Amino acid sequence: MKRIKLPFTPGLEVEFVDRDRGLKQIRDFAERGTRLPIVVYGPEGCGKTSWLKQAAVILGEMGFEVFYVNPLYRDFTVKTDIREVVDKFIEVASEATGVQLKLATLVTLVVRELLTKWSRRRIAVLVDDVFQAIGLDRAEFYVKELLGLIEHPPASYDNIVAIVATSEGVTRWRIGRHLWAMMMPMWNMSREGFEELYSMVPSSKLSFSDIWRLTGGNPRVYSLLYQVNWDVDKVIVDLVKEKELTPSFISKWRSWLEGAIEDPDILWDPSTPRELVSELIEKNLVIYDLYPRDNKFWIDEPPLERDLDIGVGRYVAWQTPLHREAVKRALQES
Ligand SMILES: Nc1ncnc2c1ncn2[C@@H]1O[C@H](COP(=O)(O)OP(=O)(O)O)[C@@H](O)[C@H]1O
Ligand SMILES: [Mg+2]
Repeated sequence: MKRIKLPFTPGLEVEFVDRDRGLKQIRDFAERGTRLPIVVYGPEGCGKTSWLKQAAVILGEMGFEVFYVNPLYRDFTVKTDIREVVDKFIEVASEATGVQLKLATLVTLVVRELLTKWSRRRIAVLVDDVFQAIGLDRAEFYVKELLGLIEHPPASYDNIVAIVATSEGVTRWRIGRHLWAMMMPMWNMSREGFEELYSMVPSSKLSFSDIWRLTGGNPRVYSLLYQVNWDVDKVIVDLVKEKELTPSFISKWRSWLEGAIEDPDILWDPSTPRELVSELIEKNLVIYDLYPRDNKFWIDEPPLERDLDIGVGRYVAWQTPLHREAVKRALQES
């Protein structure tokens, strides 16, 4: 397997590391196909895009026509020998308006054409950040469309692999309620995998255990810390602003938030106001209703059952320890 190179910071690339189980799952999908589209969700920056891009390479090596598309960032990688299809992607991506929706739609159109006009039989579609790009209302129908291609294809095929990735906590319930997709969470990197990444990044000023304690294995938070020269305070302040942890939000929920900092599982308690839970999910601060830590539910390895050091409860977890720190800071300051 050729390992892809990933941008870690401007000027520094790292090789794709770890995620062995997650990559094995790709090979299994390739052999059996996905019976339903797989919708992968997980903390921002945990490594979904990187995993999808590495998956694209693996699937290509296994003889699939592969379409990786990220409508939000107008990014795509296409592996097919049909020039006409490649040109379509180039054309659509360079259009002036409506690119996001057009790119998302193009993927499903192209699968139809590949099956009918070009008689291709092994096709992988990997769609990244699509719900943010096309809007929540369309998200459900998009997934249904992918399901349609798998269940009622316009021509016969050997295997179709359809995977969609999202960081948007709310989409999970919108999609999940229909049984049109298989929802699979992905977590931050395991301690061992993260240590491997740590060894590839030059001159970390902080020890591995400090970085683990701050990031909980989230590679993007790691790269943010690197970029600000380990100024932890700056990253926290930025998060407070980005997540709009305003005095009114904080004062409204103070006692609950104080409790959740100690143990996020208090948010699982039935007495917790649903409104607070929804806001924390929408702000992408916590992941709610975590699956049992049985491998079969997860892409790659699940987190520990409970790991309060890094904000992981049994049912609810802070996306990363720094997300928790941001809330703590806002509580102290207002
Ligand atoms: N398996 C990996 N090996 C090495 N670096 C990784 C890996 N996964 C993620 N990263 C690093 O973390 C950054 C953020 O990951 P990304 O895949 O964009 O997260 P997500 O899509 O979940 O938001 C990447 O740009 C890369 O630098
Ligand atoms: Mg991503």
